Amino acid sequence: MSTRSAPIRTTDFAEWKRRHRKISVLTAYDATMARLLDRAGIDAILVGDSLGMVIMGYQTTLAVTLDAVVHHTRAVRNGAKRALVIADMPFLTYQTGVDDAVRNAGRLLQEGGASAVKLEGGRGVADVVARLVEIGIPVMGHVGLTPQSVHQLGGYRRVGSSPEEMERVIEDARILERAGAFSVVLESIPSEVAKTISGELTIPTIGIGAGPHCDGQVLVSYDAFGLYDEFVPSFVKRYAELGSAMVKATEQYIAEVQDGRFPAPPEKKR
Ligand code: KIV
Repeated sequence: MSTRSAPIRTTDFAEWKRRHRKISVLTAYDATMARLLDRAGIDAILVGDSLGMVIMGYQTTLAVTLDAVVHHTRAVRNGAKRALVIADMPFLTYQTGVDDAVRNAGRLLQEGGASAVKLEGGRGVADVVARLVEIGIPVMGHVGLTPQSVHQLGGYRRVGSSPEEMERVIEDARILERAGAFSVVLESIPSEVAKTISGELTIPTIGIGAGPHCDGQVLVSYDAFGLYDEFVPSFVKRYAELGSAMVKATEQYIAEVQDGRFPAPPEKKR
């Protein structure tokens, strides 16, 4: 439980890196989950486009719309009073040009209430990142396994194991820092590559499947709490088994409704 009540800012991230204070991030998509994570003291909540999978039941994140992320970001904003709220920019809301990116990121702040946006890619989105930062929209980058490129990558796989891929990921992270990103997610890259990037950049790296040397970690909350079991990446640690607890509770409810134990009969007045 955190004692700090002041809202967390993107500017805290760089300061925490300087002080070697690790940064904790989880995803959330609704106000109740956001309120609980906030109460526990999480530093930042990401309204990830992973909502396509864990909320909508799609196989990939590609069908997630800007309207959906705005909607879920509003809910998270309503629940989180202290944590930094970061909204993911869905596929084709920023790759189509700087003007589209400005308009769409603007909606995530204006209508969703996010304090920052996250987008995937390195050199290919540097101009977008630079423009958003220039107009006052903080940007979290995302390199390594970028799920919006799943078809080009040939599946959800580790990235950066070959020398060429390793160099590319490192250079993309450098480019994002130069473009003004306040932090960068490193997804599914070898631990040693994440160590090199984290040592070189002044902005914090937030790892997911990238080992212990990152400046912070992010997990999809539905994975971490055992709510989603369609596909669980090997790096995920289960901090709770809420899915099986919910199935058990539902079974008990059904049994009690069927045998008349719920609702309990009204108490007799004396
Ligand atoms: O969409 C998401 O939840 C993400 C995290 C896995 C980093 O991008």
